[in-house]
Amino acid sequence: MTTAHNRVAVLHGVNFDILDRRDPAIYGGLSLNELETKIKGWARELGLEAIFFQTNSEGEFVEYLHRAPELADAALLNAGAWTHYSRAIADALDVAALPAVEVHLSDVESREGWRKVSVFDGLVLAKVSGKGPDGYRDALAVLARKLGVGEG
Ligand code: DQA
Repeated sequence: MTTAHNRVAVLHGVNFDILDRRDPAIYGGLSLNELETKIKGWARELGLEAIFFQTNSEGEFVEYLHRAPELADAALLNAGAWTHYSRAIADALDVAALPAVEVHLSDVESREGWRKVSVFDGLVLAKVSGKGPDGYRDALAVLARKLGVGEG
């Protein structure tokens, strides 16, 4: 039994398995593995434990959110394109009822209009966008503060 309440589920959505093949001018050219290594280190510095999940299946993403309250104390999501239209994922996040932060590597506010829309509005503590991998550090700090752990 853990009593730490410091576990953060980091959920990567569709097309993150091929992050290193996406436009480096927009996404930075790093691989998912490299991104997760950074996130793991930042989490540790903040007194958090990061647990990772990635899928290209919307249903699997929803099912992971169903299990998330048993696995983690908070959630950090980059749902990729699903962010902009998946009410199913938004409903599942609502049911999970975990403190959550939304992250985007790119600046979704300065790209196409449809990327400005997020189904997670009102369900997340913060939306971090356009800071590249460092945005995940900011998001973890928000969650650490919320969970009352580490120096967050
Ligand atoms: C993204 C932005 C989304 O609009 C896009 O569909 C992605 C990645 C980002 O991290 O910048 O897949 O979430």
